Amino acid sequence: MRRQLLLLHHSHISLRGCTADCKQSFKEQLGVTTLEKSKFYVKPKLPYNYKDLEPYVSKEQLRIHHEKHHQGYVNGANAILEKLERARKDGDDLDIKSTLKALSFNIGGHILHSLFWPNLAPSGKGGGEPHGVLGNAIAKEFGSFEGFKKEFSQAAASVEGSGWAALSFCRQTNRPIIMQIEKHNTNIYPTFRILIVLDVWEHAYYLDYKNARGRFVDAFWKIVNWDEANKRLEKLLG
Ligand SMILES: [Fe+2]
Repeated sequence: MRRQLLLLHHSHISLRGCTADCKQSFKEQLGVTTLEKSKFYVKPKLPYNYKDLEPYVSKEQLRIHHEKHHQGYVNGANAILEKLERARKDGDDLDIKSTLKALSFNIGGHILHSLFWPNLAPSGKGGGEPHGVLGNAIAKEFGSFEGFKKEFSQAAASVEGSGWAALSFCRQTNRPIIMQIEKHNTNIYPTFRILIVLDVWEHAYYLDYKNARGRFVDAFWKIVNWDEANKRLEKLLG
């Protein structure tokens, strides 16, 4: 029995059965380089400089978003993991329902931001239309790129309160499917890989666009990184 439990534990930690790409992708989504080594979340560096998204996102807006807001979710998730560890060690009871709710919120915030930064590209290097396997999948599912763009923009514009629009991909049906995520963790389809995500929390655009979320969504289409999205889909499809 003890041996079975150890094997179960080991297989979970080592992701045994995954392909090399699957393991790497899982690690990337978690923002860690070595799963066995890292016990806590780490905020990834931006793949460009703070000024590089101007004029669509200002240097100050991007700096605060990445340095303060994303870091807040990393710190929040790590603090809860530490609290859980301490409670287990000391034999203390926690309010598990509220603790796990807060953990889900903070991990969701960290993972979504970690996907968001690389699916943006410096001004002049992003935008346009998707190509390759992703371009074909979008055209087939939505009728045209313009049809997809309209639906995704509507999803982003109409998220209740704070949230995200995401383009995900379902391997069971081989369809790209739009998620409208509330907060960081509601309405998510479990295990669907996210190809593109757009943060429409006010903290993402308020300095530049005040309450005009629609103008920020319009700007997103100028800096979306379709190369990154296409790579994510190719990796998923193997
Ligand atoms: Fe954000």
